[in-house]
Amino acid sequence: MSEEIVHEHQMTNTHILVGEFDYWEPASFEEALSLLRANTGRAHVLAGGTNLITWIKMERLAVGCVINIGKVPGLAGIASGDGKLDIGALTTIRAIRNDPAIQAQYAALAEACAAFGSTQIQMMGTIGGNLCNGSPASDTVPALLALDAQLVLAGLDGERTLSVEEFLVGPGKTALREGELLVSIRLQRPQPGTGSAFIKISRVAADLAKANAAAVLAREGDRITACRLAFGSVGPTVLRAWKAEEVFLGQPFSPELALEAGRVASQEIQPIDDVRSTAWYRREVVEALTHDVLQLAWERAGEQEGRGDGETGRQAGTETDAQGNARITHHVSRSAEHDIKLTVNGVEHRFKVKPNKLLLNVLRERLHLTGTKYGCGIGECGACTVLLDGRPTLACLTLAIAADGSEVLTVEGLEGPGGELDPLQEAFIEHAAFQCGYCTPGMLMMSKNLLQENPSPTENDIRDHLKGNRCRCTGFASIVRAVSSCTHSRAPEEQM
Ligand SMILES: Cc1cc2nc3c(=O)[nH]c(=O)nc-3n(C[C@H](O)[C@H](O)[C@H](O)COP(=O)(O)OP(=O)(O)OC[C@H]3O[C@@H](n4cnc5c(N)ncnc54)[C@H](O)[C@@H]3O)c2cc1C
Ligand code: FES
Ligand code: FES
Repeated sequence: MSEEIVHEHQMTNTHILVGEFDYWEPASFEEALSLLRANTGRAHVLAGGTNLITWIKMERLAVGCVINIGKVPGLAGIASGDGKLDIGALTTIRAIRNDPAIQAQYAALAEACAAFGSTQIQMMGTIGGNLCNGSPASDTVPALLALDAQLVLAGLDGERTLSVEEFLVGPGKTALREGELLVSIRLQRPQPGTGSAFIKISRVAADLAKANAAAVLAREGDRITACRLAFGSVGPTVLRAWKAEEVFLGQPFSPELALEAGRVASQEIQPIDDVRSTAWYRREVVEALTHDVLQLAWERAGEQEGRGDGETGRQAGTETDAQGNARITHHVSRSAEHDIKLTVNGVEHRFKVKPNKLLLNVLRERLHLTGTKYGCGIGECGACTVLLDGRPTLACLTLAIAADGSEVLTVEGLEGPGGELDPLQEAFIEHAAFQCGYCTPGMLMMSKNLLQENPSPTENDIRDHLKGNRCRCTGFASIVRAVSSCTHSRAPEEQM
């Protein structure tokens, strides 16, 4: 069924993406590079959008043109060969976190991705976006720096490879040149006897770091033969603690030595006071973090001695869209309206949208599906969560035009054909599992996604999956109980 609903809902102000921009969706990598060259000085690359859309909303950036590389084939996925692992720039944080080869061989990176923001941010955000954002508080960058990752950049003039240190220039500044794209991140396969770890301290589970630390150690017997230590959120860029590394090199490992390295590291970092922490606290915590991360990496180096290769995935690349049609490049100028098709809760709709229209605007103002809420508007509360082609997505950070052709499930779509509530909704009622009217729909959508992905989650799985929707105003225990009551692993008496 095709339908157009044109009434704008006058009572909401969800249309807070006021900046206007031309929009390009290149069909190929070469096309993306040509568009970047043709739009020098005004183009911004859009990957997952978790940083870029937030900045445009906050009017921190005047954007002439957005080039959405999100559908460019060949830029997402994890591949291995020749003793290397290659992570495509568009690979999501979530995909890296869940990759068995990364978990087995690059524990620091897997742990950095697990500690990263909310589940929705992990599912939308890409590793390339995290690097190119240039934030000193990034989670993956300390792990990549400690693992000595090489970054492959490409422009129309060719390809070059930089180390992470060469790439980081200053707060929010990288060595990426105009017209260049980050293509992939290369990691050498660790030698036997190498271990790594990452630890983050933050105000709440889904927040940016007050401080984080990553370590890579190599050992021969009881001696440390190589050591790389990197920290985030404690300087103008993610940085290495060279002097602390020297404390360790060639020495037999001991917890006292790890503490000494921590004391040296805490004097080597360059922390400041900001909204998340103080310089004093950061120095104190880095001392302890260094000890803990080195201890963990050391233990893992022992486990890794003599370990062979793990399995790796393959580089993904689709030349067709979701309908199987060959991809074509789209261009929509800032004032033009583009036809998009969305299948929302099983019903097909067609709309005309300008490039700066958000998915949230379309759902609330065109379809009057006001169950999807506008809370913070900047990715922090999860109230606007919908399932986009099955994946939890923050509608407040998603351009409607980029969702063209997708299937959307909103909280209204959880209802059965006869109007009956989803068992999850029944369970929320039964267990009085409420947050406020703003927060509950997002909770339900995340719970739905969790149970689809993992029908038997543990309590920890539930808490982790919903961490981006947790609000300090209410209790969380009843929500965990409600979701638990819908799992396959619930106790037999609870299933009655
Ligand atoms: C609520 C919230 C919580 C967050 N929590 C965390 C956290 O815990 N830890 C953390 O590290 N970060 C966090 N972030 C920051 C953000 O989610 C990450 O930096 C994310 O990885 C960015 O990826 P993206 O694909 O969304 O990037 P985008 O927003 O699409 O892009 C970010 C920047 O990189 C550029 N870019 C992207 N890809 C490329 C490429 N391949 N080549 C060249 N340039 C490119 C863009 O032009 C833009 O300048 C959070 C953000 C929000 C909104
Ligand atoms: S996360 Fe989208 S409104 Fe808060
Ligand atoms: S704002 Fe919704 S429960 Fe706190």
